[in-house]
Amino acid sequence: MNKTKNKYHPPSRIMGSLAIILLNSLLLFHSVYSSHAISQPSDHGKQNREIVVISKDSTKHFKDSMSPVGYDGSISATQPFPEWLADFTYLKEWPGIDPPYVPLSFIDMNQIPNSVPIHEMGACPGDRTGCSFDCHKCVAQDDIYTCPKLSQSFDDGPSPVTTRLLDNLQHPTTFFTLGINVVKYPEIYKQIQAKGHLIGSHTWGHKFLPSLTNEQIIAEIEWSIWAMNATGNHIPKWFRPPYGGIDNRVRHILRLFGLQAVLWDYDTYDWQLLNNQRTEQQIFDEARSWLASSGGQKRGMILEHDAHDRTIDVALELSNNIIGHDQLTAAQCVNGVEYIKTFGVDNEEYAAAAAVNVNENFIYVS
Ligand SMILES: *[C@@H]1O[C@H](CO)[C@@H](O)[C@H](O)[C@H]1NC(C)=O
Ligand SMILES: [Zn+2]
Repeated sequence: MNKTKNKYHPPSRIMGSLAIILLNSLLLFHSVYSSHAISQPSDHGKQNREIVVISKDSTKHFKDSMSPVGYDGSISATQPFPEWLADFTYLKEWPGIDPPYVPLSFIDMNQIPNSVPIHEMGACPGDRTGCSFDCHKCVAQDDIYTCPKLSQSFDDGPSPVTTRLLDNLQHPTTFFTLGINVVKYPEIYKQIQAKGHLIGSHTWGHKFLPSLTNEQIIAEIEWSIWAMNATGNHIPKWFRPPYGGIDNRVRHILRLFGLQAVLWDYDTYDWQLLNNQRTEQQIFDEARSWLASSGGQKRGMILEHDAHDRTIDVALELSNNIIGHDQLTAAQCVNGVEYIKTFGVDNEEYAAAAAVNVNENFIYVS
């Protein structure tokens, strides 16, 4: 039996401008985990390393690109901790903001590239070979960053306000959920699912992945997958990195899980409503001029958040009166599968990890 000690827990981040405090988990794990096999589809298929830089003006705004994620340590998980996960992890409950690393048999730590420099948010390496999206807006061939139809997507939920969005949205969309919120609001997660929207992973606890160790990145991903599987009976295919924090080290790990990144080419900065750096009117005006400038093409992937009442209002106005309802989910944008695997009532399962779905024409936009 392999034994692996849990790695250190980084200090929680404090998102100063939003005065959002990510509380430390009360649970300090220093347990010893036993490693054994868990069946997980892995993607050893096409791993094209070709990269393309999508924007000349790269790092603008990225430093303050913080989203309104809140972590309220006083709300505890209501989703039961499933037996299959207890058997596998030897734990009894969902973790707090710093999930423990649980080794997985299909991950070879020695294969994870060690040439990509670890960086904190905004502290960008001069070396661009790591293909960082947060620093240089670099995307890999299997990343999605736009869509043939102008389409919204929502990060950081589920949250209590998600329900109002669901009640009023008139087209399928994509939600990138945080594992820690999935297990707090499982009923809202299931509503998203029942309404026919696509759900992807946005990590467990919204950390900036390029600053983490490999073990910490794996923990953020595996726990988000387990939360989604426990709640929605499916394994995600699509992944949105918090703060757009992704480089080739993070991508390597994602691909082992069969995940593909969904980035964006249009940011509403809707979270800036919450610290009064931005008004609703500005967001609408900018969206209208983006539409106008695209010459009626109406394409793109829009970043929004379903975390606060005001971002929900903005989302509905954009959808109902500016963009329209001819939108696509991230999977539809590339004709891809919705989930790697679905555990249905009728046991219908489909595996699709091997088919990294890349529409090359669509990726190579200059
Ligand atoms: C997903 O959940 C099913 C139970 O519905 C379990 O058997 C399976 O091992 C889980 N897989 C992962 C990767 O979480
Ligand atoms: Zn986010």
